[in-house]
Amino acid sequence: MLHSKKVLVTGGAGYIGSHTVVALSQAGYEPIILDNFSNSSATVIAALEDILGKPIKYYQKDCCDIKAVREVFVKESIDGIIHFAASKAVGESVEKPLQYYDNNINSLLVILKLVKEFGVNHLVFSSSCTIYGQPEKIPVTEETVSQPAASPYGNTKKICEDILKDVVVSKAGVKIVSLRYFNPIGAHSSSKIGELPIGTPGNLIPYLTQVAAGLRDKLTVFGHDYNTIDGTCVRDYIHVTDLSDAHVKALQFLERDQTTDLYDVFNLGTGAGTSVMEIINSFEGITGITLNYALGDRRPGDIEQIYASVDKARSALRWQASLGINEALMDAWNWQKSLTNGYE
Ligand code: UFG
Repeated sequence: MLHSKKVLVTGGAGYIGSHTVVALSQAGYEPIILDNFSNSSATVIAALEDILGKPIKYYQKDCCDIKAVREVFVKESIDGIIHFAASKAVGESVEKPLQYYDNNINSLLVILKLVKEFGVNHLVFSSSCTIYGQPEKIPVTEETVSQPAASPYGNTKKICEDILKDVVVSKAGVKIVSLRYFNPIGAHSSSKIGELPIGTPGNLIPYLTQVAAGLRDKLTVFGHDYNTIDGTCVRDYIHVTDLSDAHVKALQFLERDQTTDLYDVFNLGTGAGTSVMEIINSFEGITGITLNYALGDRRPGDIEQIYASVDKARSALRWQASLGINEALMDAWNWQKSLTNGYE
């Protein structure tokens, strides 16, 4: 019997990482999780095993610790890597820039050094549409010129993409894809894994579902005088299940490719924009809950509107999103309801 390809998933207990572990396993790969549980929980492993009905291999290690991570490469014969491990809160990155540069850049450098040392050929990197800033033209294509980063978090993604490009230019014998996520939302349909925000959620959907669950008083809509359909900001919200499938497609794209050195980037979104008010209305419509919300001031640093051109991913990765906003909101709500105390 052919052995399954082993894919190291750094940050595999995190929000997008855990859903990708499911997608990989269901596609016949053997995912191996590397996570320090700094922004996730070991309970995610049990939930993954429950969903998949089999044990999942994991290593509790810090991705910045090259000695510790090398032990995994020595033990496992890694065929490909999906590198999620990173700090991701935009606001926190403004307060703790050094921590963000340290963690997000060093973890990537560790992975790249080990990729070279162990001759791993395929790497998929978690990037973000944040690198586009407020583009002049929407939808944004991968050719849209990136803007100076609005936060240290965004800057780490930009710098990491540049590092990856340089490594490929150096003919290191590795093929790399950066995936630029738009706004991931939702949860696995089983409600066994989902987003676990620590403290007050910074993002719209977890905040909204906590308000709906009665854990928070009121949702504030940040800004209602933007030049958009209803004055509120527009984003491209993509179901996390669709997003995770794209990682499998990205690995398969690298496997199909006949060259030895390759760097490419892909937008991962639905291709459609949705405003904050449209999200609220959809949520109320599908759940029957009347949400306590108020129109408030703009949030500093927010861009007015952005959504993805997804043509490139569709043709090269043979992938496109299949789930809509309503499914994503329903899954996010079911996930929220499944949490003990609403939080864990
Ligand atoms: N919003 C509210 N009220 C809230 C929270 C958010 O109105 O309580 C609004 C925001 O102003 C924005 C929209 O909801 O218009 C989405 O906000 P999120 O914080 O959920 O998402 P962002 O688009 O700000 O950020 C996301 C990712 C970042 C990434 C960024 C790139 O979370 O990691 O996209 O644009 F960097």
